[in-house]
Amino acid sequence: MIVHFIGAGPGAADLLTLRGRDLIASSPVCLYAGSLVPKGVLAHCPAGAKIVNTAPMSLDEIIAEIQAAHAQGQDVARLHSGDLSVWSAMGEQLRRLRALGIPYDVTPGVPSFAAAAASLGAELTLPGVAQSLVLTRLGGRASPLPEGERLAAFAATGATLALHLSIHRLADVVAELTPFYGADCPVAVVWRASWPDERILRGTLGNIETLMAPEIDRTALILVGRVLGAEDFERSRLYAADYDRRYRPTGANPRFPE
Ligand SMILES: C[S@@+](CC[C@H](N)C(=O)[O-])C[C@H]1O[C@@H](n2cnc3c(N)ncnc32)[C@H](O)[C@@H]1O
Repeated sequence: MIVHFIGAGPGAADLLTLRGRDLIASSPVCLYAGSLVPKGVLAHCPAGAKIVNTAPMSLDEIIAEIQAAHAQGQDVARLHSGDLSVWSAMGEQLRRLRALGIPYDVTPGVPSFAAAAASLGAELTLPGVAQSLVLTRLGGRASPLPEGERLAAFAATGATLALHLSIHRLADVVAELTPFYGADCPVAVVWRASWPDERILRGTLGNIETLMAPEIDRTALILVGRVLGAEDFERSRLYAADYDRRYRPTGANPRFPE
């Protein structure tokens, strides 16, 4: 028996890895985390599988479900939205499973920031514009930020920012970032990236609040940075004709001779 933690992707049912699909199909128990896991992903569960929405459950109740499956020797597919490495609450579950001696493995998923960037058709690291991406959030009721992770500290670097779990505090985001990025800095809000009803708002720090609509709540990302919409960035050296590299030796004395 094993618990398979599986990143279920950002919303579109076909943004699921083949490994994730196959593990879901071979597990007689499926625990999924609420409304963000698409029903199309659950369609891969085998006939007769026990399928449980864990959104209303406590950690103890979730672990009890896993222990019950463990006692019966039944594999569990444990689904969380996007990828499991960020804001999935996987860490606390793994810690409990380690203490109980219940085996697990982890299969990554497509994170929502990547789905949002794809919908925007945007590379978030452009040469000479930004070479770092910060995945962050504003502090919440249940999750105060560690001191030192304030938005202003990240903003001081000028990196591209992908703000999760913060759309309800857009005014605070704008107020904190404008002194660093300028009111003309591009901003995109992507709501329900990759879902059929996805919406994209493009603006600037100066006007993004005026573009908001009441239905844009909760499942939205705020992307901020000069990479959005930039056209006058440098070319990467990777594809420059005169750049001597391992896979394309160039010049009289290539650095990596064949
Ligand atoms: C609890 S976190 C889960 C993050 C997830 N593990 C991931 O890899 O993206 C939920 C937040 O992720 C963002 N999010 C998740 N799915 C999204 C989507 N399809 N479109 C836009 N934002 C999304 C929103 O900011 C939302 O508040």
